[in-house]
Amino acid sequence: MNDLQPIVDAAQAAFAQAATPADLENAKALFLGKSGRMTELMKGMAALSVDEKKTRGAAINLAKQAIEAALTGARQGLADAELAAQLQAEALDVTLPGRQRGQGGLHPVSLAQERIEAIFGSMGFDVAQGPEIEADWFNFTALNTPEDHPARSMHDTFYVEGGSESGGGASGTAPNLLRTHTSPMQIRYAVQHVKKHRAAAGDSGEGLFSGAMPEIRVIAPGRTYRVDSDATHSPMFHQVEGLWVGENISFKDLKSVYLNFITTFFETDELQLRFRPSYFPFTEPSAEIDIMFESGPLKGRWLEVSGSGQVHPQVIRNMGLDPERYIGFAFGSGIDRLAMLRYGVNDLRLFFDGDIRFLSQFQ
Ligand code: PHE
Repeated sequence: MNDLQPIVDAAQAAFAQAATPADLENAKALFLGKSGRMTELMKGMAALSVDEKKTRGAAINLAKQAIEAALTGARQGLADAELAAQLQAEALDVTLPGRQRGQGGLHPVSLAQERIEAIFGSMGFDVAQGPEIEADWFNFTALNTPEDHPARSMHDTFYVEGGSESGGGASGTAPNLLRTHTSPMQIRYAVQHVKKHRAAAGDSGEGLFSGAMPEIRVIAPGRTYRVDSDATHSPMFHQVEGLWVGENISFKDLKSVYLNFITTFFETDELQLRFRPSYFPFTEPSAEIDIMFESGPLKGRWLEVSGSGQVHPQVIRNMGLDPERYIGFAFGSGIDRLAMLRYGVNDLRLFFDGDIRFLSQFQ
């Protein structure tokens, strides 16, 4: 047995050193292979006597078993190590933050529009929506802007296929168009309002209405279109129309409502408001509303934010109301302009380019 123990030791040492399964199989061949050391020892038994063969054979077998056991142990060791390495490599750190899904959010113009709706809502204004493809009648004629009126050229209009009755006593049809402002909603909303309340009052519905009805108080925000494109004009833009019609509504009401709106919208009392005489066919008198911040980055500059005016008597008539009883004011403000001022954006086109780097700043 004396000559066998060093071989067993050598085998154990060789197996323990094998770093890979291939190394281990090479080491195995040295001891248990066809010309391995144990095989050679077996061959050497041929010359022994029967008795010697017994004892020698038993000793060799023992040594061989020890080597095979060492081999199995080494194989298991390598397999364990490989599994451990794999587990380590694929380890999951459950404490890491999850992969973020990009969070969507409202567009800055929508944010501005929501603010506008909430502010006017708090002052008792209804919010109305209307069509973007509009009849000539609502966009122009009913707003005291007949076909040959020079004010029509103030709006570079997109015309679309199809037409509607000219209306207002004119015969034939006029082409439909993409509304150039939200003012057609003045007529659409008021006509519905008047129809509803004169029916409720038992009125026949003929002629102009001069009975009692609740005031009209509405805003109509939405998309508007003009053939125009530069840093401050986009062919598609947003306006909000405001209309307040009752029996004793005056410019001072317009001023107090608008001032309340604008100071709430910009969250500051440090601004001034002024009316600058202007012209619109559907208001008389008409005024541009300018504001000036008394502090902040826009301090000291007059900024135009809205057209406005007292609703023209002809427009009151086109609403179905008697202008002897009903009077009101209207305004039309650019929502994009208000959003630019509120968020400090200097190019209107940024709103409509769809660049996520710009838009994500508003989330
Ligand atoms: N509709 C006008 C425009 O687009 C604005 C306006 C609305 C003016 C209501 C007076 C009253 O320029």
